[in-house]
Formats: sequence, structure tokens, C-alpha cells
Amino acid sequence: MKKIIIINGPNLNLLGKRETDIYGSKSFQDFYTGLKDKYDSIDLNYFQSNIEGELIDKIQEVGFSYDGIILNAAAYTHTSVGIGDAIKAIQTPVIEVHISNTYSREEFRHQSYISANAKGVILGFGLQSYELALNSFIS
Ligand code: DQA
Repeated sequence: MKKIIIINGPNLNLLGKRETDIYGSKSFQDFYTGLKDKYDSIDLNYFQSNIEGELIDKIQEVGFSYDGIILNAAAYTHTSVGIGDAIKAIQTPVIEVHISNTYSREEFRHQSYISANAKGVILGFGLQSYELALNSFIS
């Protein structure tokens, strides 16, 4: 059974309540429950933190044994050399995802410290971005 983890960064615990015009009105917990049911042949896991170091700790913890990491580092995408370095340091492939199309938004969201070290990037498809990433790991 493939072991995959979704790692979400800061403020993504507020999905469903936060800027719903951009991020939609569904909570991540509801979305994740549906995903787990649909893909029950995958050992799918989930971690969220608002703290940069905790995200790095989790990437290091799973990065030598899991088959895939689906990472939405949220605002840290645009600022964190530490998360970029963590991805470089591990063996598990990482797919960078974003709910919104960051390239159609403010200039500071065009910069990513994740992309260069990721296997691929999926953005702009709403919560479906996560499912597309998951599919790329299982097909
Ligand atoms: C985001 C885009 C980021 O720019 C933003 O800081 C987020 C969410 C997205 O999923 O669209 O918090 O990663």
C-alpha cells in the first residue's frame, strides 16, 4: 500500500472560513474525509501546521520512508529557504500544490522556494489540485 501524506502550511486550517472567494467554502477536513474514502487503497495521511519548523520536522520525518508528499506550504512557499532545503535533503518526491493560481495574484506569490526542488507543481484547480497530485502518485 502506497504511503502518501498531505502537508498543509499556515492558515490552511481556516479553509472554508478564510477568503472564501479565493479558497472556497469547504473545510479541509471535509474534503480530506471524502478523499480518504475515495482512495481507500492508499495509506493517506494529513498534517497541518502554522509553524515553519514543525513543517520542516514533518518533511524530515516522512521524507525517507513515504512514497509521496503533497505539499501546500501556503505563505511559506514564498519565503522559506528552510522548507526548500528540507525538500532537497529528503528522498521522497514532493508535489507542490496550491488551491489558487498564484501567478494570477500578487507579484510576491510568483516566487516559490519549493518549485525548483519539487517533482511537479499543480495550482489553480481549487481543492482538486490535491486530488490531481494524488493521482499522479498512484498512476
Ligand atoms: C496558497 C497560495 C499562497 O500564496 C497563500 O499564501 C496561501 C494559500 C494556495 O493554496 O492557493 O495561504 O498556497
